[in-house]
Amino acid sequence: MAALIGREREMAAINEVLDEVADGVGRVVALAGEAGVGKSRLAMTLLDMAARRGFRGLRGTACAYQSDLSYAPVVEALRPLIRAAAEPTDLGRLFGGMSTAPALGDAGLERTRLFEAIASLVADAAEQQPVVMLVDDVHWADPSSLDVLHYLGRAAAHTKCLIVFTYRPSEASAAVRAMLVSLRRGGWLVEVPVLPLSPVGVAAMVAELLGDSPPTPVLELLTDKSRGVALFVKELTLALREGGQLFRSAGRWVLGPDAAGAVPTSVVELFEERVDSLDATDRAVLEAVSVCADAATADVLGAVCSAIDLPGSLTRLRTFLIEDVADGEVLYRTVHPLLAEAVYARLTPSARQPYHAAAADAIARRSPVAVSRLAHHVGLAGTAIEPARALETLAAGAEHAVARRAGDEGLQHARAALKLAKRLGRVDLVPQLLTWLAESASFTGRTDEAVAAWWDAAVDATDPHERARCLMRLAQAETDAGQLVEAQDHLIQAADVLGDLDATELRIEIAQIALVLHTRRDELPAVLAEVAELERIGACSGHPKALALARYGRLELTRYGVGTVEESEVDESIAEITALADAELVVTLHLISIGTALGRGEHAAVVRRVALAIERARTANLPMLEVLPTAFCALAQFQAGAWDSALALADRALALGHRFNVSRGISLALAARAMVLLHRGDVAEAESCLAEASANYRDRRLGRLLDVIAAQAALARDDRATAARLAPTTGPYAMPVLHLQVRADLGDDVLDELDKLGFPYAAAVAGWRRGLFTQAADALDSLGLPFDAAACQLDRANVVAATDPDTAIAAATRALAVFDDLDAVAKSAQARRLLRRLGARPKPKDRPAGQLSAREAEVASLVAQGLSNAAVAKQLFLSPRTVTTHLEKIYRRLGLKSRQELARYIRSSNT
Ligand SMILES: Nc1ncnc2c1ncn2[C@@H]1O[C@H](COP(=O)(O)OP(=O)(O)O)[C@@H](O)[C@H]1O
Ligand SMILES: [Mg+2]
Repeated sequence: MAALIGREREMAAINEVLDEVADGVGRVVALAGEAGVGKSRLAMTLLDMAARRGFRGLRGTACAYQSDLSYAPVVEALRPLIRAAAEPTDLGRLFGGMSTAPALGDAGLERTRLFEAIASLVADAAEQQPVVMLVDDVHWADPSSLDVLHYLGRAAAHTKCLIVFTYRPSEASAAVRAMLVSLRRGGWLVEVPVLPLSPVGVAAMVAELLGDSPPTPVLELLTDKSRGVALFVKELTLALREGGQLFRSAGRWVLGPDAAGAVPTSVVELFEERVDSLDATDRAVLEAVSVCADAATADVLGAVCSAIDLPGSLTRLRTFLIEDVADGEVLYRTVHPLLAEAVYARLTPSARQPYHAAAADAIARRSPVAVSRLAHHVGLAGTAIEPARALETLAAGAEHAVARRAGDEGLQHARAALKLAKRLGRVDLVPQLLTWLAESASFTGRTDEAVAAWWDAAVDATDPHERARCLMRLAQAETDAGQLVEAQDHLIQAADVLGDLDATELRIEIAQIALVLHTRRDELPAVLAEVAELERIGACSGHPKALALARYGRLELTRYGVGTVEESEVDESIAEITALADAELVVTLHLISIGTALGRGEHAAVVRRVALAIERARTANLPMLEVLPTAFCALAQFQAGAWDSALALADRALALGHRFNVSRGISLALAARAMVLLHRGDVAEAESCLAEASANYRDRRLGRLLDVIAAQAALARDDRATAARLAPTTGPYAMPVLHLQVRADLGDDVLDELDKLGFPYAAAVAGWRRGLFTQAADALDSLGLPFDAAACQLDRANVVAATDPDTAIAAATRALAVFDDLDAVAKSAQARRLLRRLGARPKPKDRPAGQLSAREAEVASLVAQGLSNAAVAKQLFLSPRTVTTHLEKIYRRLGLKSRQELARYIRSSNT
C-alpha cells in the first residue's frame, strides 16, 4: 500500500486512543466523512498501527446491498474468534459449524443472551491480546449490527478492546444517529472527522499517482474539481491521463485543451446509489439544480419544477445541497461540484432538454437578461425550444462570447447557430455566424477550424471589404498554424479584392500580418517593402496604428543590420499602441521587440517587455497571449545565466501552450528547455525536446533556432558532420553566439557583418572571434551574459596556454567557477582539463562533480530506500516540487537516469 498522505492530526488522536486501550480503557472511535474522502484508508492504517503495537485486528464491512442481512458485518468481523465449539452455544445461530443452544422462547431475552455471548467472546479474546475491531461503512449496516456495536462499545469500557467504525454523516440513518448519541452520552466515543485533503495533500497524491510532481496548473485543476476528496483526486487524475488530456511534454505533465471536461464513470457510480435512493420528486429537484447550475435560484427551480412542493423537497435534500448567495439571491448548489456533474451525466440528452428549456424560460423572463447563461441553456434545450427563437438567442450568445473572447463558449454557440440557420434557410445570417465561429476557433487555438471557417466566410462574403477582411483573417489563422505559403497567397488576394477601395484600417491590418509573416520566413526584402507600405499609409492617413507598426517594422529590421532604433522610440510606440486597446496587437508588437532585444543580448529590455506583454495579456484575460512572451523570457534567462529560472519559465509556457494550443509557443518553450538541458550535459533529453518541437511546429526562424541547438547537441556528441549540416549559414544574427558556437569556419566577411549590426552584443562576439578576448569578455559580462563571458575567457585561456600559463590558469579558473555555478558540465570539464594540463589543480567544486549537497544526499538516500517523491517531501518538510528539482539535480550530478539506478548507486557507495 502506498504511503498515507496527510492525516497527522487524525493519527495523533488515534495513537492516544490506542494508549488508553492498551491500558485497559476500552474505547469506540467513529471516523466520519463523506464518500471517498479517505475513511477506509485511514481505518486500515489504524489497524496496521494497532497490529504493530500487538493488537489483534478484526474487520467487517457493511455493504449497500446487504443492509437487510442481519449481523452481516459483525459476523464477518468476529469470525476469526470463533472456533467450532462442541458445546451448544448462544453464538451457534450466528456462525455455521457450531451447535445451537436451546431456544428460550422469549425473543428479547434471546437477543440479550446473544449480545452477551458476543461481548464475552470479544472480552475473552482481549484478555489474551488487545483487540481492535473495525466495522467499515456502518451507514449501510443493518439495525441489528448497530445494536451489537452499541452493546460491544458499552461493554468494552473496562477491557483492552477498541471498536472502530466509519460512516458517512450525510447518509447516516436515524438508527446510526441514535447509536452515536447514546455512545457519546456514555463518554466512550472518540469522534474523528475525516476531512478532505489539503492542496498539499492533493499534490502529494497526484505526484504518487503520476510518478513525479506535476506543475501547478495540473494541480489547480485537480484540487478545484476534487475539492480534496481523495477518491476523486485519484479517479480524475487517471481519467484525464487515460482520456489523453493529461500527457507528457518535454518530460513534464501538461493538460490538453479539453481537460476541464467530462466526469469519470467511477465518480458517477459513487453517487449513483445515493441519488437512486431519492424518490422521484426529490430526484427531479436535484436534477434541476444540476442542470440549471449557475441559474439554480429558488425562482428558476420553482419554474422548472412547477408541479413539485419545492420547499419540502429542498429540506429533504439538505444533505445534497448547499445554499449560496449570489447577487443577493439564494443559489442552490450540490455539496460537491462533482455530484452535480454526475447527476447531469446520468441524464440522457433528451431528458436534460426540458430542464434546460425551463431554465432558459426563467432566465429570459428576467431583466437584464443574462445573455450567456441563456444561450447556454437554449443550446442544450434542443427541440424543446422553438427553433427561430433558439437561433436568435444562440447568435446573440455567440456574439457576446466573441466580444468577451470566451472562445469555447463562442465556438459552441456559433456551431449550433450555424446548424440552425442552415436548417431554417436563414442564409443571410451565415456569413456573420461563420466569422464568430472563426474568431472563437482562433481564441481557443483550434487553428484548423479557424482556417476552415475563415475560408467559408471568405467564399460567402459578397461585399469586397468583408471579403478582404475574411481573406486577411484567413491568412492570419494560417500564419498561426504555420501555413505561411498559403497565408501569403491569401494576403495577396485580400489586397487584390480591395483594389482601389478606400480601406485604410484593412490595409494596415494586411500589412501587419504580412510583416509578421515575412519576419517568420526571414525575408528581408519583403519586410522592407511592408515597412515602407506602412510608412506610406501612415504618412497619408496619419493613422497611429500604421505609424506605430512601421516603427516596429524598423525595429525588426535592426536585426538584419538595417538602421537603428532608439529604446525611447520603442517606448513611444508602445505607448501609442497601448492606447489602441487591442491586446493581441500590443502583445504581437511586444513580441517583435522582445525577439529583437533577445538577439541583441539586451537582457533588461527583454525582461521589461516580457513583463509588459504578460501584464497586457492578463488585463485582457487572454492567457494564450502569455505563452510566447513567457517562452521568450525562458530563452532570455538562459542567455543571462539564470538557468533554473529558464527551466521554470519554459515549463510554464509549455503548460499554458498545451492548454491553449499555441503551437509556436510550445516549440519555442521546448527550444529553451533543450538549450538548458544541453548545456547541463543532458544531450539525450535535449534532443528529445528538439524532436518534439520540430514535430510540433516550425517556421523558418524558429526552425533555425532549433537547428542551431541541434547542431550544438551534435557537437556535444562529437558528431561534427551533423553539426556542420545543421549549422545555419545565412540569416540575421539572432543570438549570434549560438551561431558562432556551431560555426568554427567564419570568415572575415561574417565578422564584418556582425560589426555592421552595431550593437554591443554583436560587437563583443565579433571581438571574441577576432581574438580580443579580454575586451569581449568584459563587454559580455557587463551585458549580463555570464556564460558567454566565461566561454570567452576559456577560449582566451586555451589560446595563451602555451605562452602565458599564469594568465591562462587565472582565466580558466574564473570561467570554471561560472560553469560550476550553472552546472554547465561540458564546459566545466573542458576548463578542468585545461587546468590539469597546465599543472594547476582545478579547485574542486563546493560539491565536486558526482558528489551531492547535504540536502541532495538526504533526498537521494530516501528515494533509494524506495520512498515516493511525496513521501520524501513530507519527511523533509519540502514541497513535492522541490523534491523533483533536487532529484533532477541528483540525476544530473551523478549521471543517472532512474530511481533504480540511484538505489544501486547509493547501495554501492555505502559499502
Ligand atoms: N490519506 C490518504 N493517503 C493516500 N491515499 C488515500 C488517502 N485517503 C484516501 N486515499 C485513497 O483514496 C481512495 C478513496 O479512499 P477511501 O478510504 O476508500 O475513502 P472512503 O472510505 O472515505 O470512501 C482510496 O483509493 C484510498 O486508497
Ligand atoms: Mg470506504
